[in-house]
Amino acid sequence: MSVSKIAHVLLLLLVLISVNSNNGVKATHKVFKRFQSQSVDRVGPLHRTAFHFQPPMHWINDPNGPMYYKGIYHLFYQYNPKGAVWGNIVWAHSVSRDLINWKALEPAIYPSKWFDIGGTWSGSATIIPGKGPVILYTGLDKNATQMQNYAIPEDLSDPYLQKWVKPDDNPIAAPDETMNRTAFRDPTTAWLGKDGHWRMLVGSKRKHRGIAYLYRSRDFRKWVKSKHPLHSKQDTGMWECPDFFPVSLTDRKNGLDFGYSGPNIKHVLKVSLDLTRYEYYTLGKYHTDKDRYEPDGSSPDGWDGLRFDYGNFYASKTFFDSKTKRRILWGWANESDTVSDDNSKGWAGIQLIPRTVLLDSSGKQLVFWPIEEINTLRGKNVRIKNKKLKSGQRFEVRGITPAQADVEVTFNVGSLEKAEPFNPKWKNAQDLCNMKGSTEKGGVGPFGLITLATPDYEEYTPVFFRVFRDATAKKPKVLMCSDAKRSSIRTDDGNEPKEKMYKPSFAGFVDADFADGRISLRSLIDHSVVESFGAKGRTVITSRVYPERAVTKNAHLYVFNNGTQPVTVESLSAWSMKKPRKMN
Ligand code: FRU
Repeated sequence: MSVSKIAHVLLLLLVLISVNSNNGVKATHKVFKRFQSQSVDRVGPLHRTAFHFQPPMHWINDPNGPMYYKGIYHLFYQYNPKGAVWGNIVWAHSVSRDLINWKALEPAIYPSKWFDIGGTWSGSATIIPGKGPVILYTGLDKNATQMQNYAIPEDLSDPYLQKWVKPDDNPIAAPDETMNRTAFRDPTTAWLGKDGHWRMLVGSKRKHRGIAYLYRSRDFRKWVKSKHPLHSKQDTGMWECPDFFPVSLTDRKNGLDFGYSGPNIKHVLKVSLDLTRYEYYTLGKYHTDKDRYEPDGSSPDGWDGLRFDYGNFYASKTFFDSKTKRRILWGWANESDTVSDDNSKGWAGIQLIPRTVLLDSSGKQLVFWPIEEINTLRGKNVRIKNKKLKSGQRFEVRGITPAQADVEVTFNVGSLEKAEPFNPKWKNAQDLCNMKGSTEKGGVGPFGLITLATPDYEEYTPVFFRVFRDATAKKPKVLMCSDAKRSSIRTDDGNEPKEKMYKPSFAGFVDADFADGRISLRSLIDHSVVESFGAKGRTVITSRVYPERAVTKNAHLYVFNNGTQPVTVESLSAWSMKKPRKMN
């Protein structure tokens, strides 16, 4: 074996070890045949969300084909109509006028033809100018070979586009002998090049190399694979649900449509890593002449890549909202409890609150923010101003419903003098968060919110910052955590199949300069989910949690500071959140 081959194998081993010691993150959809069609006789209401998107029962995963067309937002998603685990997957379909209040329709796509009889898996929608929307999705044949198909609305005059037709000239892309026939899926929204040809990406792998294959078409029917993939990366494993879109370097308000090309833009390539069930993205340059994508040198391409969300967030997909000129991101959050719990509650999976996506002013990362429509659900409000928290102090936010709330807070840490030195050995934010937690006293921090808590802290999910001095950089090093370690007293031995509730200390670093001593945090709390946006959306973390005692009226919300340095809550605003209505 050559030296480079040995190095390669060693690297792969390292990756696999880190993957397998990944605190139990579940790779691929586990197939629980026995449970796939076990009917649900009762829906457990305790941990159901109030203002997140979830169907009345059963399993959901990836958001599919989100789009805005003629006044209506569409969301399709992977859905098991028969049970609370992955299986029997169809494209469920819901419509909305505002992305908040939804109406459920009949499934739009389900296995019925030879090219999708083995499964109707994820995909995207493309709106063809002057013609209408087309869905690209992955179908599996009876031998589980994956191929890309298209579907079109049966009746364009139906405002909800309820019925979809799968023409007989499908599939439009099937794996050739050089490709992995069971790792070829999740077509992107297509974009039109200057040459008048459409392009789409399909996620794949070859051996351990993650690949985004590029296909071109003149007429959206006949597609040809280009000689080179758009991009690939060794040792990242299967790339699921790729997403590829431009962002503006200069426009801080509007998103760009997929095919936009012009000056002052960068491109984003996001992939979902099947091995770990984490995603990463790079910022880079799309060389349209060669149809190749090249990540910026400052954008790590691989396991250390940036993430849309550092928590429970997968198979995400953006779309361009032509009504408001926003790029909007949908992401799926799986359950973190056991399969037997999913079965007994009769449902699993939620879609997270859609987020706008913009390029940060640094040009080095994206920023995310809950769509402003979510503010229409805000009810009773409490405000707090200029409250100082000395070391070890906390106060309670009273007067709202803490299990169903939206909280925005701005902290001022004053001076960073007391910040602890950052140890360059701390490479992994999650490990660091796990090690230090929210109670170990620091210099500046930990400070932040304590969500879904009992007053005795028997159960609590803290979302907080720790600020370190970084000798090698001009800026402090800021750690953000959303720590589920103590979120539930349930220890969970799990009955069958034996599995433990997953209570990770999710974390990410935050690129915040603290020039004015301030840092902000917003958390959307909804019974079993906490979505948190640090430093105006520079770092986002979602946790799924299952408190036993800190539920509904018994849940509390606190603000705390466990750092030596006092911290001022300059302003805090918290709202009780209402349940959306059904769209009428
Ligand atoms: C991602 C994924 C996709 C696939 C779909 C099947 O979660 O595995 O790659 O198309 O789910 O439901």
